[in-house]
Amino acid sequence: MRLEGKHIILGITGSIAAYKAAYLLRGLVKEGAEVQVVMTPAAKEFITPVTMSALSGKPVASEFFAANDGTWHSHVDMGQWADLMLIAPVTAATLGKMAHGIADNLLVTTYMSTKCPVFVAPAMDLDMFRHPSTLKNLDILRSFGNVILEPAEGELASGLHGKGRMQEPEQLVEEVVNFFNSKKKLLNKKVLVTAGPTYEKIDPVRFIGNYSSGKMGFALVEELAEQGAQVVLVAGPVSLQLTHPNIQRIDVQSASEMYEVCLHHFPEMDAAIMCAAVADYRPKQTAAQKMKRQTNEMSINLEATADIAASLGKLKTGRQLLVGFALETNDEEQNALGKLQKKNLDFIVLNSLQDQGAGFGVDTNKITILSKDNNAQVFELKHKTEVAADIVEKLTQELAKL
Ligand code: CTP
Repeated sequence: MRLEGKHIILGITGSIAAYKAAYLLRGLVKEGAEVQVVMTPAAKEFITPVTMSALSGKPVASEFFAANDGTWHSHVDMGQWADLMLIAPVTAATLGKMAHGIADNLLVTTYMSTKCPVFVAPAMDLDMFRHPSTLKNLDILRSFGNVILEPAEGELASGLHGKGRMQEPEQLVEEVVNFFNSKKKLLNKKVLVTAGPTYEKIDPVRFIGNYSSGKMGFALVEELAEQGAQVVLVAGPVSLQLTHPNIQRIDVQSASEMYEVCLHHFPEMDAAIMCAAVADYRPKQTAAQKMKRQTNEMSINLEATADIAASLGKLKTGRQLLVGFALETNDEEQNALGKLQKKNLDFIVLNSLQDQGAGFGVDTNKITILSKDNNAQVFELKHKTEVAADIVEKLTQELAKL
């Protein structure tokens, strides 16, 4: 599903090619897009809104007010919601209205309210298509930044032969997919991410853990997947959910389980981001039975866990990037740089518990990215989704240098 999560407005105007819009809509929905159909009054003479609402799973918007209950179809809300507007087929009349701001129906007002890219697929007879007014209007739309999906040569519904035939629905779906793919920065890249805490068992009911919520790691994974990467997420015990099809999630409990999974997957990765708060020590022995309260004092013998980041740092080839995190309370930069060197990282994301709004459990973070070439990038306090975008941008730049 190459259009998962994408919001598309499909505009349909009054051309005989409107029947193809049903196949087009089906193709977009099959690829995972959420589609809002907007039809001009004339389009409804060619294909029924019932067909289009059944295929899209949403009522078709056509009038400013829905006839049955008077609901207001807000062209502004639709315009804000959309990631792409595709008008297919578009007639000479609608092209003219779009070019000259004649907003006398819901489709053209929606067009004028969108901030997203707009694609149009003309369909008309060859004489109408080559008329100077059509050609001029198409030029005006190009000058607005709209994309014209040129009609093909071929037999036209009128019986004439020439240019004017709307591109086939499958081709139009490919155009849409290619457009979204071209904006993805990490298409075909494979990235391993660790996230969340680890639990180190003391006995069947107790463990040593930490307060990591996994929110930063999960935000990162979402952003990586959104940018086209294939992601393997190795998650400690957290209650967060993900749905993106590019994400393979492997749940683990302990540092040693996380270590095994990471070592197994790392060789085929382009990059690994170590976001988990991994326990540094675990109980030397795990009691088979629940431990009883006996004396006033007790101690548990601990032993060091494997350092996952450092192990991957040793295995790393020149074609792979390794990114670490450091959550520090004091001597932040110095400590983070020490970890960067010790673990052979390419860059490290530092957050300080001194900063308000940074750290465990909260939705925001304030980071500094320190690179192995001693470069420091300081970022503002932001929502973790925006922080994730900054980190992914840095990763993209560094991958391009390999
Ligand atoms: N890390 C890891 N495996 C471990 C410990 C840490 O992969 N056993 C990774 C973390 O995911 C993080 C980086 O190493 O990306 C730094 O983690 P941190 O706990 O700050 O580092 P430590 O080397 O354990 O240093 P400290 O003494 O401050 O705990």
